[in-house]
Amino acid sequence: MAERIALVSSERGLRVDPDLPIAAAALADAGFGVDLVRWDDETVDWAAVDLAVVRSCWDYAWRLEEFLGWAGSVPRLRNPVEVLRWNTDKTYLRDLERAGLPVVPTVWDPTDAGELPDAGEGVVKPSVSAGPRDTARWADAGDALAHAAQLRAAGRTAMLQPYLASVDDEGETAMLFLGGRFSHAVRKGPLLGRGEGVRQDRDSRGDLAPTTPTAAQRELAQQVLDAVPELVGVESAPLYARIDLVGDAAGRPVLLELELTEPSLFLPQAPGGAGTLVRAVEAELSR
Ligand SMILES: Nc1ncnc2c1ncn2[C@@H]1O[C@H](COP(=O)(O)OP(=O)(O)O)[C@@H](O)[C@H]1O
Ligand SMILES: [Mg+2]
Repeated sequence: MAERIALVSSERGLRVDPDLPIAAAALADAGFGVDLVRWDDETVDWAAVDLAVVRSCWDYAWRLEEFLGWAGSVPRLRNPVEVLRWNTDKTYLRDLERAGLPVVPTVWDPTDAGELPDAGEGVVKPSVSAGPRDTARWADAGDALAHAAQLRAAGRTAMLQPYLASVDDEGETAMLFLGGRFSHAVRKGPLLGRGEGVRQDRDSRGDLAPTTPTAAQRELAQQVLDAVPELVGVESAPLYARIDLVGDAAGRPVLLELELTEPSLFLPQAPGGAGTLVRAVEAELSR
């Protein structure tokens, strides 16, 4: 009987995640039985699935403990619950920084202006976020601190970073790793408009184009990925990973985000991507 792969999504993800139909078709072509399911669908028999792959569980941010509880209950989940627990909170950036990797300079829970970076504009965001909701770019330190205080008052961890202006012209480089190997990369345009404040309706999949990363970007991304097993306490590289890099003021790549939970794979922008995903799933099953 065909092995069963569950691509795990959410109510909204099932309707609009553009990666899902492409991934499902490629896996079906390779002979797998494919189920497109919601993580919170109580009728799914997870024990009957050979591999459950988290894809677009976009509602996890406001149901985090429930989501992680579910992840802990699924026998063969990728990425596994240990990785999800670590990666669903951007405090993982601290671990990577301690491991010596260049990450976007971040002040955690800033409370007074003395802690603000010297840079002109700042970005404030919550450490657990569902897309760029509750994220804003501020020119004024008072506005940035007020936004951070609001997040703290809601029981969240606030992050303050310098606004890296290179995203305006060079963009952000999103590099996809499948089965531990580099697969493809996409350039993302800037998302936070000047003076715009907090907005809940930004579309992080708007301005995308295939790109070829530089040698320096490839090297840093690989270092970030290689650091994961030891930091998280798992044995092998994550099945899927997206590493988002931006250039700092000196033009060096720094890590903005390491997405090991539910990264968009940008399959519509990457003709070879779905095939690489299939091979990564096959390798995972033959472990
Ligand atoms: N320090 C920063 N400098 C410039 N742009 C930023 C910065 N932090 C976030 N952004 C913008 O906001 C977007 C969302 O932030 P990100 O840290 O990737 O969180 P998430 O993708 O989880 O919402 C980024 O893709 C980028 O366009
Ligand atoms: Mg991001």
